[in-house]
Amino acid sequence: MTVEVVALDPHRAGPADLAEYVRIRRTSADPADGALDHDSVVTRMRNPFPGLGDAGYRLVRVGGEAVGLVYLRYPEDENRHLVLAEVVVQPDRRRRGIGTAALRALLPELRACGRRVIEGWLVVEDSAGDRWAKSLGFRTVRSVTRMGLDFACADRSRWDVAPPAGYRLERWVGAAPERLLASYAEARSAIHDAPTGQTEFRQPDWTPERVRAAEEEDRAKGVEQRVVVALRGDTVVGLTEVVRVPHRRDEYYQGDTAVLAAHRGRRIGLWLKGAMARWLVAERPEPTRVTTATGSDNEHMIRVNRELGFHVVNTQLVIAHDVEALSR
Ligand SMILES: CC(C)(COP(=O)(O)OP(=O)(O)OC[C@H]1O[C@@H](n2cnc3c(N)ncnc32)[C@H](O)[C@@H]1OP(=O)(O)O)[C@@H](O)C(=O)NCCC(=O)NCCS
Repeated sequence: MTVEVVALDPHRAGPADLAEYVRIRRTSADPADGALDHDSVVTRMRNPFPGLGDAGYRLVRVGGEAVGLVYLRYPEDENRHLVLAEVVVQPDRRRRGIGTAALRALLPELRACGRRVIEGWLVVEDSAGDRWAKSLGFRTVRSVTRMGLDFACADRSRWDVAPPAGYRLERWVGAAPERLLASYAEARSAIHDAPTGQTEFRQPDWTPERVRAAEEEDRAKGVEQRVVVALRGDTVVGLTEVVRVPHRRDEYYQGDTAVLAAHRGRRIGLWLKGAMARWLVAERPEPTRVTTATGSDNEHMIRVNRELGFHVVNTQLVIAHDVEALSR
């Protein structure tokens, strides 16, 4: 059996190759992510989720026939040693060594570009993917709780949180006002206090320049970012962020929520997220939900989410292996 791993450029690939990729992607769709039609998969390939570096796509062929895919992300800056990978083999071709062969075929190029650690994100516990990864020696480095807030059935009165004395809110779409930029960047760095398990992925060291670069990346990819901040005087002390990607117009993904340590314990996180939810449902057409992924040990954030009406969708794992060890 010869397993070929062939690069697929989503901007230049022919319709037949794109259709194969979409077909295989659908076989491992997470029901929590909703229906995956052809256009939404291709739009997503062309506009990969921001903040995770370049994306790479591969079709896995056996005897010329496409039976699997690989999706890769090459994060930058403090994460240049990492590669994020997802391997999918269509169900009727599993347990024949194809997934393992596809992964192994990628290792030389990962080593050549200095990616020392491979991580798989959001692997369902006890799924085929989890068992496969364990058989290859991947370690579980983090557990993530995925939650959703469905606007249609939410009790919206839970979002009316009394403002903590001495604080006020501001909000914007896409670009932080220049006068708040420096303190906003500093407040974003409070995300470093969130528990991340043993994953090697580091959150950015936010600076005003990196905030502007991230905003620019969102604009270039057609991603809408909304931010609500809490201010003490003229200084940002907390924030919550959501993004909406071009292939899912009805849904917002929760980004960071962070409050500077000196201001915690005053329900600012709850107040910020409640204000965000009220803002989103005031939009027309109204989006249907917000989804979020939080470290399973992040009890404070999960409690805030529950208070606002988020329900648990499932628990998923982050798995990791050293590229060098896998190559042996
Ligand atoms: C994970 C996946 C890519 C594995 O592909 P595959 O081609 O079936 O994997 P392999 O045949 O190379 O499996 C190699 C070994 O892994 C282990 N393994 C794989 N699937 C397993 C399962 N369902 N249960 C138990 N062990 C399993 C076995 O030890 C297997 O060797 P064996 O068949 O001789 O016992 C495939 O199951 C899949 O597409 N799952 C959905 C997507 C996913 O979860 N990807 C993983 C996240 S990156």
